[in-house]
Amino acid sequence: MNIAIFVSGNGSNLQAIIDSVSKNEIKARLVLAVSDKKEAYALKRAEKAGIETFVLDPGGFNAREDYDREIVKELKKRKVELVVLAGFMRLLSPYFVKEYKNKIMNIHPALLPLFKGTHGIRDAFEAGVKKTGVTVHFVDKKLDHGPVILQESLEIGKKDTLESLEKKIHALEHRMYPKAVKLFVEGKIEIKGQKIKISA
Ligand code: GAR
Repeated sequence: MNIAIFVSGNGSNLQAIIDSVSKNEIKARLVLAVSDKKEAYALKRAEKAGIETFVLDPGGFNAREDYDREIVKELKKRKVELVVLAGFMRLLSPYFVKEYKNKIMNIHPALLPLFKGTHGIRDAFEAGVKKTGVTVHFVDKKLDHGPVILQESLEIGKKDTLESLEKKIHALEHRMYPKAVKLFVEGKIEIKGQKIKISA
């Protein structure tokens, strides 16, 4: 199976997936790393792992769909069957979502539907909730929304700071995302409407 990973930033989740593929835990090919930001450190990680990169600046596009069409062309050329959003901070157009229906995954650093958006960890910390977590889900047209594949929670302790919470969340993400990708590659995820069934 050919996989494309979309990134905008550090790429630590991309790295976790690269590591899992190189250990042969995920039996798939990472054929393309797509980014909207040329300075994303994630691109360096991709290059180091020998993954082709494709950077497209949204600046020159009037419509979201035009931008997405350019990317979809690149995905089709490489026969991509799964799109993995790993810190890609752009909303996909309905056109893109339709092209890859139930084939786009996202990871979010909170227990969706809580704390959507770009600051899921900080928003949960500042809200004073006692638990937060990580969600891996299929992507639909709405932001940080769609059928939940995996979701795990963790406690926010009295001694936690935003920094310590960020560390815990990222460690959890790096365990969960490769696991979700592996389940998909092995055909173990069944989608029924909003609900997901995972087979053993
Ligand atoms: C991750 O924490 C991911 O959950 C988050 O961006 C970070 C990317 O880190 N995504 C979102 O907030 C999506 N709404 P990374 O570049 O090191 O993988």
